[in-house]
Amino acid sequence: MLAKTTSDKGLLEVEFLQIPDLKGKDVLTLNDLTASQIKHIIRGALYLKNKKSRGIKPLKGKVLGMIFNKPSTRTRVSFEVAMWQLGGYGIFLNTNDLQIKRGEPIKDTARVLSGYVDGIVIRTHDHKEVEELAHYAEVPVINGLTNLAHPCQILADLLTIYEVKGKLAGLKLAYVGDGNNVANSLLLGCSKMGINIWVSSPKGHEVDDEILSLAQKAALENESQVVVTNDAAEAVKGADVVYTDVWVSMGEEEEKKGILEVFKAYQVNSQLLKLAADDVVVMHCLPAHRGEEITDEVIEGKGSIVFQQAENRLHAQKALLAMVL
Ligand code: CP
Ligand code: NVA
Repeated sequence: MLAKTTSDKGLLEVEFLQIPDLKGKDVLTLNDLTASQIKHIIRGALYLKNKKSRGIKPLKGKVLGMIFNKPSTRTRVSFEVAMWQLGGYGIFLNTNDLQIKRGEPIKDTARVLSGYVDGIVIRTHDHKEVEELAHYAEVPVINGLTNLAHPCQILADLLTIYEVKGKLAGLKLAYVGDGNNVANSLLLGCSKMGINIWVSSPKGHEVDDEILSLAQKAALENESQVVVTNDAAEAVKGADVVYTDVWVSMGEEEEKKGILEVFKAYQVNSQLLKLAADDVVVMHCLPAHRGEEITDEVIEGKGSIVFQQAENRLHAQKALLAMVL
């Protein structure tokens, strides 16, 4: 499994910065990363999180363009701070202020930006836009969330689970709620790390079929389980980690009007958590809708690690950026 951070700063620094197969890589979903690359990012994040590593500037002079076509608190701020702390600079590019708004094609934007920046983060609706951007860009592209996937979130989540549980392989993680971008990426991340993942969602709101088969394949290779069910109680039974996310994702407000009733049985509350392991931890990518997918009592309760999880967006992305840019 993962090596713990050692006091040998020099060795780890050299080791994590010299991952040639990650340099220049697009990260659009976690399927773009091998299990060993994900472990390496987690190791790098643990190293960078350690105060002793403050001051190393592997991205001196590098610039990251950050295209956002949806709101963001964590992703935007953590990427911007990550670049600054590593010696580089992040430019926030709201699509409302770009010529994209007036119809300039993604493929032109990709080639223009490639002349200015060393990497691009993009958050948008349609995953195909990110694929198109990556296809035409000459610099690495990182997905900062699409309707299909949220890979950077899950890198931080895996780091958090490792910190709290001291291991990844063999744990049981239960995802309860909408089979959305976060659930899709959790499927890939967990199956690659050997975590047994159970996803419970209402009928008609299940995870993406293609991602599910990729996760099933990864689970076979890593001797872990992938189970998809409509039964939240069955999923949570004995779980080491219970994870939830909003029932209505950004951009779905209209199509999911009046849907809350369908999701009622998928609320993470203290009753449901009684079925989990005694030392269960509760995760949520945030922002949360208290009283819908999670109760206030649970998110503020002793098992909740949501703010450690949020902080880890910074550390995991620093490692990713240092390796990719
Ligand atoms: N979890 C997450 O991606 O949060 P933001 O939408 O605030 O970036
Ligand atoms: N599933 C949520 C995640 C937000 C970080 C959304 O897409 O809105």
